[in-house]
Amino acid sequence: MSMEIWTEKYRPKTLGDVINQKHVVNALKSWVSEGSIPHILFSGRAGVGKTTVAIALARDLFKDNWEGNFLELNASSERGIDVIRGRIKDFARIKSIGTEFKIIFLDEADSLTPEAQQALRRTMEMYSGSCRFILSCNYSSRLIEPIQSRCAVFRFKELSKEDVLQYIDRIIKNECITAEKEGVEAVYEVSGGDLRKTTNILQAASTLGTVTKDSVYVVSSQAKPKDIEEMLSFAVGGKFKEARKKLYELIVSQGLSGEDVVRSIHRQIFELELPEEAKLKLLELIGEYEYRLNMGSDELIQLEAFLAQVLKTGKSIQ
Ligand SMILES: Nc1ncnc2c1ncn2[C@@H]1O[C@H](COP(=O)(O)OP(=O)(O)O)[C@@H](O)[C@H]1O
Ligand SMILES: [Mg+2]
Repeated sequence: MSMEIWTEKYRPKTLGDVINQKHVVNALKSWVSEGSIPHILFSGRAGVGKTTVAIALARDLFKDNWEGNFLELNASSERGIDVIRGRIKDFARIKSIGTEFKIIFLDEADSLTPEAQQALRRTMEMYSGSCRFILSCNYSSRLIEPIQSRCAVFRFKELSKEDVLQYIDRIIKNECITAEKEGVEAVYEVSGGDLRKTTNILQAASTLGTVTKDSVYVVSSQAKPKDIEEMLSFAVGGKFKEARKKLYELIVSQGLSGEDVVRSIHRQIFELELPEEAKLKLLELIGEYEYRLNMGSDELIQLEAFLAQVLKTGKSIQ
């Protein structure tokens, strides 16, 4: 079996293959036909195509010369604005090959402090004769105004379920893997519209054979909704021993971490058949125990204490 990473293999190579994000793609295509682009700012959640679109744009613009004229940097991993400026300087200094300008793609620009952003703004100005900047962020409001106003701003949309299922289908067909309908649904549920997660989970699950609901939950370190529901029902119904047994099954046999379990409970809460009031109480508890686990407390002790609280809540509503 090939060990290719599917998130790279299935990353669209041209703007025309990008799923959805039509408002972005159409504007960029018209700039490609004119042969020039302004500075650009992409905002949006993870896994909806920001990096993909930036690379596809460079490929469409520069064709075979794209790699030498495209620099990708990550603001949160480049250890400070001085390192970033140094890399930009080195890149901008070398004359572009066969193109009028080069593209510098700076991912996670909103992780820079306001002071670092000021330095970035000056750098953008200094090299704007030879380089165009594409900045990518989760929240454009975290960028200083002078940067926002120098860029054409594009907000990426959440991908619809249809979009995601179409993408999954494309991979399944191309890889000749088999997947149950419920397995595909589970991939969507677990990755919640993030196509990077979608692809990684699908790839991991497919190594176990036919993609099923169970294999998806195993590879994504998530408890099966049914297990969580049973555990909580036992606890709410006053059956502590059974609830605890279920918890041990999740942590010990299925190898989930305490935080995995808490997150799975969080995802499940509104699906449970409980009065609204009890759900709110559960939410409060989840917040508290998630915090405790983050602080490094013992997982089993904390989760048992959590179940004891759930049991109390159950008693109070009966
Ligand atoms: N709109 C999209 N169309 C096609 N593939 C996408 C799209 N969005 C994300 N992907 C896929 O998901 C993966 C991650 O996308 P990426 O562009 O890196 O996301 P981000 O928005 O976090 O930069 C890539 O492998 C890419 O193929
Ligand atoms: Mg990205």
